[in-house]
Amino acid sequence: MSSGRSAVGRAPAKAIVVGEHFVVYGCPAVAVPIPDLVLQATLSRRDPGPPHAGHVGACLAVLHERFGGLPPESLDVSVKSDIPWGSGLGSSAALSVALARAYLRLCGRKPFADDVREASLACERIAHGRPSGIDTEVALTGMALRFERGKPPVPVPINGRIGLIVADTGVASPTSEMVAAVAARREADRAEFDRLLQAAAQKADEAENALALGDTDSLGSVLIAGQALLDEIGVVTEEVRRVVAAAREAGALGAKVTGAGGGGAVLAVHQVGSIPGVAARMRSDNVRVISAGPLGEFEPEGEP
Ligand code: MEV
Repeated sequence: MSSGRSAVGRAPAKAIVVGEHFVVYGCPAVAVPIPDLVLQATLSRRDPGPPHAGHVGACLAVLHERFGGLPPESLDVSVKSDIPWGSGLGSSAALSVALARAYLRLCGRKPFADDVREASLACERIAHGRPSGIDTEVALTGMALRFERGKPPVPVPINGRIGLIVADTGVASPTSEMVAAVAARREADRAEFDRLLQAAAQKADEAENALALGDTDSLGSVLIAGQALLDEIGVVTEEVRRVVAAAREAGALGAKVTGAGGGGAVLAVHQVGSIPGVAARMRSDNVRVISAGPLGEFEPEGEP
């Protein structure tokens, strides 16, 4: 995906099924890609120009420092994304993975997974301070994963009988602030946090089994339990509650906020055949549905 003067990199959104926040403290979490929500970055050579601002600028500086090659000021950047920013769907990890792939290709190098992972994690540390790495791993592999800090991620086979709806509350919330708020809560009552973490770990096992078996009812129960755990650590807002309630009223078997919370995106599950009807009822209740379909993988990129 390089023409010599320009190169493209892509990466999908991710949704954490269960275990967000707890994963930062060593709990296993399970996450899936959202193959129809994709970020595409195109880098083109240009005469040296003004520096790039914001997170794109920070990522390009990381890439130049790690890989050498083209200085950021000699690059034009174009980003097209279906992933709402700051919505808990891994937009910053998708951006850094896509930029790393495009950058390496434009430098005439192959975007090996290990290089892209390390670069993305360096960018994520700038964006979030203390990322667990789960967002990068799903953006990189495009696969459903069981992720536990410090261990190799385990691919979870996806049985496409499960239907997934992703809805956006429209309220963006910086991951770093939510992670800091949860850290303060944990400090205030370690024993209580550890009790919730143990419960989340058990739900991660259940989620893994449900995904592999295509057991939508069990996955729905996991989402309900996951939402309750996130409510207990204070990342569920009124708007999230409204969207989760709308999903359940529309017939979803379970629904929860996903990612950092404080707004952001909500996941809902049901049997694949009923997903269009559930999504239509949610839309008629003024919910912004941004993806609705069977669970699946994103065509992995990056391994030459
Ligand atoms: C963000 O998508 C998920 C969090 O658990 C943070 C992290 O794992 O880095 C909130």
